[in-house]
Amino acid sequence: MHTYRPEMDEWASAIVDYALERVKMSPPPLDGPRSPAELDREVGPTITEDGIGGMRAFELFAEHLAPATISTDHPLFAAFVPGAPTKASVLFDILVGASSICGSSWTEGAGAIYAENQALAYLAGLAGLPEGAGGAFVSGGSAGNLAGLVAARHAASERRGAERGSPRPLRWRLVAAADAHSSIAMTARIMDVDVVEVPSDERGRLTGEGLDRALDAADTDGIFAVCATAGTTNAGVVDDLAGVADVCGRRDLWMHVDGAYGGAGLAAPSVRALFDGIERADSFVVDPHKWLFAPFDCAAILYRDSRRGAAAHTQEAEYLEDINQTGEWNPPHYAYHLTRRVRGLPFWYSLATHGTRAYSEAVEAVLALTRGVADEIRRREDRGWLRLVAEPQLSVVLFERTGWSAQEYSNWCERMLAEQRAFCQPTTWRGRRCMRLCFVNPTTRVQDVADLLDTMR
Ligand SMILES: Cc1ncc(COP(=O)(O)O)c(C=O)c1O
Repeated sequence: MHTYRPEMDEWASAIVDYALERVKMSPPPLDGPRSPAELDREVGPTITEDGIGGMRAFELFAEHLAPATISTDHPLFAAFVPGAPTKASVLFDILVGASSICGSSWTEGAGAIYAENQALAYLAGLAGLPEGAGGAFVSGGSAGNLAGLVAARHAASERRGAERGSPRPLRWRLVAAADAHSSIAMTARIMDVDVVEVPSDERGRLTGEGLDRALDAADTDGIFAVCATAGTTNAGVVDDLAGVADVCGRRDLWMHVDGAYGGAGLAAPSVRALFDGIERADSFVVDPHKWLFAPFDCAAILYRDSRRGAAAHTQEAEYLEDINQTGEWNPPHYAYHLTRRVRGLPFWYSLATHGTRAYSEAVEAVLALTRGVADEIRRREDRGWLRLVAEPQLSVVLFERTGWSAQEYSNWCERMLAEQRAFCQPTTWRGRRCMRLCFVNPTTRVQDVADLLDTMR
C-alpha cells in the first residue's frame, strides 16, 4: 500500500488525467444530487475486506459519485456563496495534496508557512491593518469567527482578572446585528455566551448609531466584542464599519469584522470606500475560498495584534514544548486547530502567479456583472414582472417575481437544476420570500443570467 508499484500506473494516470481534464473544463457540468436509494443502486457498498481495487473505486467515483455533486464553480451556480477557484490555484491544490506537508509548526512546514504568511500579509494590507497583524488560514469563515471571538473573550477575561476587585461577569456577551451570519450565533453557543442583538437598518446594516443606542439600553457588563459584517450573506451589504469602529473605540470594545464573503471587495477600488473603518478592526475574517478564487477550504483569520490571537489559542503540551519555544510562526497559535493542511498555499500560488492587479480586476468584473444583472431586472421591472428588492452593494441580488408564492420560487429553482441550467436558492428578505443570486465567478455573463431570468416569465 505504501510503495508505488507498476500496477498502480493505470489508476494513477486515470486520476491525474481526470483531475487535469476537470481543471480544463470551462464550464464544468452542473450535475446534481441523487437520493441515497439511487446511490445504493448505482454504487452500493465499496469498503470490503479485500478492497475493490484502485481502478474500480475510481470508476465508481467518476461515473456515479462525482455527477452526484454540484459544481460550485459552474458560472450559473448562484446559490449560497459559490466558489470560483483560478486554474492556477486548483492545479497547485493537487500538488499540496501530494506533498504531505503539515502546517502545524514552523519546524515542520517553514517553507509553506512562509508563503502562506505572504498571502496573509496581502489580505492584512488590503484591510489596512498595521504592522504586527497576522493570523492563520483556517477551514472556513465559521472557524475564523470562532477564533476571533475566542481571542476577544480571552483578552476581556485577562483584563477583567487584572482589574483587582472586579468580579468575573455572570455572563459574557457579544454584540451582533440581526443580519450577522448564522455562524456568529453558533459561535456564541459553542462559547456559552449570550448575544446582544442590534436591529439592522432598513438596508440590513449595523450602524454606529444603532449600536450606540443598543449599548445605551443594554447592561454592558460582560460585553467583550462587537461583531460587524463586511458583506452580509443574505443581502451582500457592508455594515457601517467606521461608525462601529468609533463606538468600539469610545467604549473600549473589541471589534471583530466578518468579511468571510464580502471581504474580497477590499480589492476593488469601486467599492473600497464601503469598508472604511475596517483598518481599526481587532480581528478580521475573509474567505479566499469564496470570492478570492481559492479552492475549498481556505479562510483567513487576522488579528490586528497577532500576539492577542496567540495569547488565546496557543496549546501547551509536553510534546509541543520544543516547537512552541522556537519563537517562530506557528499557525495553530491563531485558531482552534493543531494539525493542518497548508490550505493557504493554493491561494498563495495563484496570487504569486497572476499578481494582485489581476485579483482586483476579477473582483471588479464580478461587481460589474452584478450591476449588469440588476439592470436586466430593472428592465423587466418596467414590463411589470420582476422587482429589484434593493440596489446591490456587492455581488448579491435580491428580487421578486411579481405574484409568485414561496412554493413557486422553490419549484423554479428545482426546475433550473433539473434542466441543468443553473443552481439557485430563494431566500427571505424582511419577511417576504424572494430570489437571491450571489455571484463570485468572473466568467459568468450578464446575458446568460438575463436568459435565466426570462425563464421566470
Ligand atoms: C458573512 C459570512 N460569514 C461566515 C460564513 C461561514 O463561512 P464558512 O461557510 O466558510 O464556514 C459565511 C458563509 O457564507 C458568510 O457569508
